Amino acid sequence: MKAIVLVGGMGTRLRPLTWDTPKQMLPLVGTPIIEYVLSALGQQGVTDAVLSLGYLPDRFIEAYPDNVIAGVRVSYAVESEPLGTAGAIRFAAERAKIDETFLVFNGDVLSDLDLGRLLNFHRERRAAASISLHAVEDPSRFGVVPTMPDGQVVAFVEKPAREEAPTNLINAGAYLFEPSVLSRIESGRAVSVERETFPSLAREGALFALADSGYWLDTGTPATFLEATLDVLEGRNGHRGPRPTSIENGSWRHPSAFVSADAVLEHAVVDRDCVVAAHAELHGVILMPGSVVEAGARLNGAIVGPGAVIGAGARLEATCVVGPGERVEAGALLLGS
Ligand code: GTP
Repeated sequence: MKAIVLVGGMGTRLRPLTWDTPKQMLPLVGTPIIEYVLSALGQQGVTDAVLSLGYLPDRFIEAYPDNVIAGVRVSYAVESEPLGTAGAIRFAAERAKIDETFLVFNGDVLSDLDLGRLLNFHRERRAAASISLHAVEDPSRFGVVPTMPDGQVVAFVEKPAREEAPTNLINAGAYLFEPSVLSRIESGRAVSVERETFPSLAREGALFALADSGYWLDTGTPATFLEATLDVLEGRNGHRGPRPTSIENGSWRHPSAFVSADAVLEHAVVDRDCVVAAHAELHGVILMPGSVVEAGARLNGAIVGPGAVIGAGARLEATCVVGPGERVEAGALLLGS
C-alpha cells in the first residue's frame, strides 16, 4: 500500500528546537522521529511513502539521499507554500500519481496502528474515507469524532471543553482515502482536512471511523516529546519502530558521549558528543548532540537543544526547553511550564 506522510508543518509548539530542524527530524533516543514512523508503517505493509514536505524540506532530502527510510521507499512532494493538511494530501497524491486506496499518516505520531483491520473496515463500509480513532482521558486538546454504532461519523468536534466532549475517541491522524476524495479538495488555497474535507464527507454519510486500541502518542509538544522518549527507553512504544540497543538503567548514551562516573542518569538520553560532568544529575532529560551539562547541575524533565550548555550548579525543573546553542548561566534556576 502507498502512504502519504504529512511532515510539512512548522512544529511551532516545539520551538525553539524546530527553528532549524523540522519536528520529524528531531532525534528520539538518537534516531529521527520519521524513522520510527516509517518503520512502523513498513511493518504494516506500506511499501512506498510520499513525504509531504513544506517546512525545511532539504533536511529530509539530504538525510536520506537513497530515497529509503527504515526500509520504505520514499519520494518527496515539496510544497512551495503551505497548502494545509488537505491541500498537502491532494498535492502529494497527484505528484505520486496515486490511483488506488491509500493511507494518510501524520508524521509526528508514534503508533502501532492495525492497518489491515482499518482496511477491512473501510472496504466493508464502502467508505470514501476512514479515520483511525484513539481513546484518551482528556480529549480537549484534540479533534473528537462521535460515530454511529456502525462507525459512520456523525460530526467532527475540534478541541471541545472536557465536560462537553461527546466521546473520548479522538482523530488519531491516520486515514484511508479513496482517490475520488481528492477532486473534492479545492486547489490553489490552503484547505484543512479536519475542518473542511472531513465535516463535508461526514454530512454526506461517506466518512467512517474505527477505534484502535494500540499504542498512540502525538510527539508534538515538549511534554509529549519527553513522554515519547521515556516510552522508547522503557520499551512501551508498541512493538514496532527501531529499538535502541545499549539502554542501561533506563538511560541511553551515544558511544561518543562522555559521562562522568560521578554523574547520575535516570531516564536520560545523552546523544552524540555530549558531555555530562561530575555530580550532574539528569532525571527524565534529553540531551541533544553536542550539548554540555557542567558539574553539579540538576535537570528534572528537560530538553536541551544541540550544542547548548547548562552551567555548573544550574537547576532546571518542570519541562524546560533550552534552545540550540543557548547557554544557561551557572547557578541559574529555570522553571518550565
Ligand atoms: P504545531 O505548529 O506545533 O501545531 O505543529 P505542526 O505544524 O506540525 O502542526 P500539526 O501538529 O497540527 O500537524 C499535524 C501533521 O500535519 C504534522 O505531521 C505536520 O507536519 C503536518 N502538517 C501540518 N500542516 C501542514 C502543511 O501545510 N503541509 C504539510 N505537508 N504538512 C502539514
